Amino acid sequence: MHLSEHPLISASAIQRRVDELGAEIAAHYGDEPITLIVVLKGGLPFAADLLRAIPVSDVCVEYIRARSYAGTASTGEVLITMQPEESLEGRHAIVVEDILDTGRTASAIQARILALGPLSCAVCALLDKPARREVPIEADFTGFVIENYFVVGYGLDLDERFRGLPAVFVLEEAEEPEPAFLMDDEEPPAAPESEAPFPWPEEEVAGEETPGAISPADPGSGQTGGTPSPGTASGPPPPHRARARRRRRPRPPFR
Ligand code: XMP
Ligand code: MG
Repeated sequence: MHLSEHPLISASAIQRRVDELGAEIAAHYGDEPITLIVVLKGGLPFAADLLRAIPVSDVCVEYIRARSYAGTASTGEVLITMQPEESLEGRHAIVVEDILDTGRTASAIQARILALGPLSCAVCALLDKPARREVPIEADFTGFVIENYFVVGYGLDLDERFRGLPAVFVLEEAEEPEPAFLMDDEEPPAAPESEAPFPWPEEEVAGEETPGAISPADPGSGQTGGTPSPGTASGPPPPHRARARRRRRPRPPFR
């Protein structure tokens, strides 16, 4: 896995949208007291910026903590491990989330907050991945609707990494390894960005008609080969070589 070369959402696009959200929230609640319920840890940078973007004096901050993810896969189970300390009575709560994915976390948190008796409880999510929704919940305030990418940065993490990035990046699958069975002085064939560098002739891939083309790592494989050289992987060509080398780099839609 590696980060997309360009951010999906740039830092300046985030800041502009956060300012707009602050104005939307202020317009919606007027002078009513608000408590932002920051969903740790991912909602922290967003909430810090949002807090400063709401031009209303009576805005309090509380924290709640929920976990539902391990790596890039949701466990489907939501654990709430921290609760607001101050009373929410007479105040409008706004749950501040980094991202709405299946919706389970926001839904569980909203139910827990409503049980504490605020005037109302809204959800404000920086990102929304509606394609992944499993629980019927919509954010009342949404920063950006994105496709089903796994994203990191601006609070979002992969196993605690990348939270401090100022922009949001897509986590992409690793690219295919470089061709590992060329002649020492052979260049990989040029291929247009959008196309796979394949197919190559089957026999060349197998190395059977080009003695010396492969550095055999597996002496019993029946392949002939030359001297192994640095950077030349050994063994039969991996089966995934026949696949297209796809570039799944999304267009950066938010700048
Ligand atoms: P649910 O599925 O409950 O998930 O809506 C919400 C929580 O899951 C995490 N999440 C992500 N974290 N990149 C991340 O770094 C993602 O693309 C992503 N999708 C979901 C996140 O912590 C969120 O609060
Ligand atoms: Mg997370």
